[in-house]
Amino acid sequence: MKAKITILAIETSCDETGMALVRCSGGIKRPRFKILENIVSSQIPIHRPFGGVVPNLAKREHIKNLPKVFKKLKHVKKTDVIAVTVGPGLEPALWTGINFAEKITQQLKKPLMGVNHLEGHLYSNLLPQKLNAKQRLNPKIIFPAIALIVSGGHTILLKMRSLTKWEKLGETLDDAAGEAFDKVAKMLELPYPGGPEIEKLALSLPKGQKPSIPFPRPMLNQKNYNFSFSGLKTSVLYYLRDHPDSKKENIAASFQEAAIDVLVKKTASAAREFQAKSVMISGGVAANKPLNNAMRQKTEELKIKFWSPDFKFNTDNAAVIAIAAYINLLTKKKKLPLQANGNLTI
Ligand code: KG4
Ligand code: ZN
Repeated sequence: MKAKITILAIETSCDETGMALVRCSGGIKRPRFKILENIVSSQIPIHRPFGGVVPNLAKREHIKNLPKVFKKLKHVKKTDVIAVTVGPGLEPALWTGINFAEKITQQLKKPLMGVNHLEGHLYSNLLPQKLNAKQRLNPKIIFPAIALIVSGGHTILLKMRSLTKWEKLGETLDDAAGEAFDKVAKMLELPYPGGPEIEKLALSLPKGQKPSIPFPRPMLNQKNYNFSFSGLKTSVLYYLRDHPDSKKENIAASFQEAAIDVLVKKTASAAREFQAKSVMISGGVAANKPLNNAMRQKTEELKIKFWSPDFKFNTDNAAVIAIAAYINLLTKKKKLPLQANGNLTI
C-alpha cells in the first residue's frame, strides 16, 4: 500500500447523506488524517414533522442527495479507495449508499470496501481533538483504553488493548442513550432530534438551581457493564403524568443528569477495573457538553486521559468512515460483504 492514500467515503446509515475525502498516512503506529472535504447533507427538517427518522423517506432523500453531494466534491480525482458504510443502520438507507458506491467504483476504477458504522464512531477519536487542534490520540500511550460509543442506535462499552483489538464489556439491553434523549424530548414536545434540544432546555434552568427530580439510575449498582435506559424514560413519562405543571427545564436537566450519571459511573468503574490509561467517547450523544464535562472530571480524578472528538465528528458523517476504512486497510481483518446489514455489531 502507498504511504499516503486518499479515501472517498460514503455514509447513508440513517438520516445524513455524508461524503468525504480524507488523506490518510502514518500506518497503524501513528495514523494521521487530513480531511480534504467532508460534506453532510442533513435530512433532519424532512423527518422532523414525523418526530423521528422514516426509513423510506430517508431512502428517497439519500437517492436524491447522493449525486448532488458527489458533484460538490472537488478532489474526486485523488481517490485511491472508496469506502461505504454497510451497517448497522436502516437497511433501505444503507443500500442507497452501497449502490451509489458501486457506480462510483466503476466510474473511477478504484477498489471499494465496506465499513462498520460503529468503527467510524470509535475511530473518530483519531481526529484532532476539540480542545487543542494539534492534540492527537497517540496509540503508543493510551492503551488499555475504555471506549464508550453512545449514539441514537447504540450504547456500547469496549475495552481496547490496541487500536484494532478490543472486547465488548457491555451494551444497552433496551433503548440506546440517544434514543432515550429523543423519546424524552418528544414527551416534552421538543423537536427531533431530541438530544441537542434536551441539552439546550436543561441550560435554561435558572442559575444556581440544580436539577431536583431524582430519576432512577438504571443498573448503576449491578456488577456488569450493561445499560438500560427504557426504565428511566418511563419514569419521566410517569413524572410528567403525575406533575403536569412541573417545569420542563427541570425535567430535562434531571433526566440528562441521570443518563450522564450512569454513563460516567459505568465507564469509570470499567476504567478502574481494567486499569485503563484513557477513556474515549464517541457517537451522537458524545456531542453533549455536560456529558463531556462530567467524563472529563471523572478521568481527571482517576488521573487518566480523556478523548472526545470535535463535536462535528460525533454525529454521523463520512470523514470518520474514511478513517475506519484506513485502519481496516492496515490490518488483515476479514473484509465486510458489500451488503446492507442493519444489525452489524462491533
Ligand atoms: O451517531 P448519531 O448521529 O447517529 C446514530 O448512529 O445513531 O447519533 C444521533 C443521536 C440522536 O439520538 C441524537 O438525539 C443524539 O445522538 N445527540 C445528542 C446530542 N446531539 C446528538 N444527545 C445528547 N446531547 C446532544 N448534544
Ligand atoms: Zn452514528
